[in-house]
Amino acid sequence: MSQPSQELFGHLLSPQADGRVDLKRGRVVLRDGWIESVESVEHTGSTAGAQRFDESGVNSRSCVISPGFVDAHLHLPQFDSIGADGLSLLDWLNTQVFPAEARWADANYASAMSRRVAARLLASGTTGVCAFATVHHVATLAAMRGLEAFGLHGYVGQTLMNRGGPPELNRTTSQLLEELAATPAAGSIRPIVSPRFALSCSMDLMQGAAQLAHERDWPVQTHYAETVPECQRVREAFGEDSYLSVYDRAGLLGPRTLLAHAVWMSDHERARLAESGTVVAHCPTANLFLNSGLMDLASMRTAGVRMALGSDVAGGPDVCMVRVARAMLETARDRALMVGTSRRVPSEGVPTAADCWWQITRGNAEMLGMADAGRIEPGCRADLVVLTPADGPSATPAWLSQPDPLAALLYGFDERWIERVYARGQVAFRR
Ligand code: GUN
Ligand code: ZN
Repeated sequence: MSQPSQELFGHLLSPQADGRVDLKRGRVVLRDGWIESVESVEHTGSTAGAQRFDESGVNSRSCVISPGFVDAHLHLPQFDSIGADGLSLLDWLNTQVFPAEARWADANYASAMSRRVAARLLASGTTGVCAFATVHHVATLAAMRGLEAFGLHGYVGQTLMNRGGPPELNRTTSQLLEELAATPAAGSIRPIVSPRFALSCSMDLMQGAAQLAHERDWPVQTHYAETVPECQRVREAFGEDSYLSVYDRAGLLGPRTLLAHAVWMSDHERARLAESGTVVAHCPTANLFLNSGLMDLASMRTAGVRMALGSDVAGGPDVCMVRVARAMLETARDRALMVGTSRRVPSEGVPTAADCWWQITRGNAEMLGMADAGRIEPGCRADLVVLTPADGPSATPAWLSQPDPLAALLYGFDERWIERVYARGQVAFRR
């Protein structure tokens, strides 16, 4: 049965097809989990629309309505490991991450944790994800159902690893591929082929994974070139000149593949990424937390590599994608300072605030093939974040009178601004 429609009024932060982000006062009508219509207040006749703003909280003059954020790379079983500082990638995996993931052998534990994680994501404005679970099949299914029950959408993958971890996390190639092949979608949470990274997988596992992805038309996610020692070990283990050649040989590259990190690479690898249409999930907060390096976003853009953005929790300590986007900007600015192009304002190759908002909404949705997410347009999922930026008494909100209101919202952002989050048209978080 059709539910009554709901109307929301505010400044609509609306990412456009050409990469711009519009910010206009308007009205969004939600029905049955979808956006039914969108009108700007100007179009409805200013007074009729304006009267619908009340002066407090949601629907106030200063409230901002954004599409729900999409996190293109994170690890569900790692949320209790945030902040394990002082280790580099491979030591951190061995001493912090693998023991945490081993606990998912208990599917009830995994189910409860996933629900807790779903609530945490929603409270930070994230409504779409592309996530790793663990090597455990039953726990992965439980995690998919847990996220679905909270109204999230996207992808969750059973981690594929047959080497390099503790015995309890190394499974056989045939077990892993059979389980993966038998993974149904849980509503809006769909399976994704998830070889952990080259050091956790034999070539036959990666090739089998690539074949399954091809047969099922499923996406692929893995990690790539995050740290220097990792790259060196991969080249040695597989006898290839470059890390990317290993994935290329396995058949893992292509427009439906997402490679997390991509910090340490040659121009040749960048060109191959662009040519194959492979997507890189930039993880600036994780690259900083684990001291991995500062990814060269400017060179990625120049080479034409398709880019997404991920929190990589718990490699990254920030759950909220607005902070991750700000770290993307600041990392690019740091690099520009280091190489001396920084004296120009704005610095070349440094994303703008609009780029940041675009990336965590429409940009990530497009890179993940989520055709109906990340936008405030009729026919899209009613996944919305309602923000009430802290404000003075003036009729014009302070952030709106800044030269770049999107920058004011990005730099001033505070999670306490998140008043409500709608997932599939339902209030999934309320402050
Ligand atoms: N490389 C392989 N596994 C992982 C992981 O869980 N997190 C990060 N940041 N890098 C990885
Ligand atoms: Zn990761």
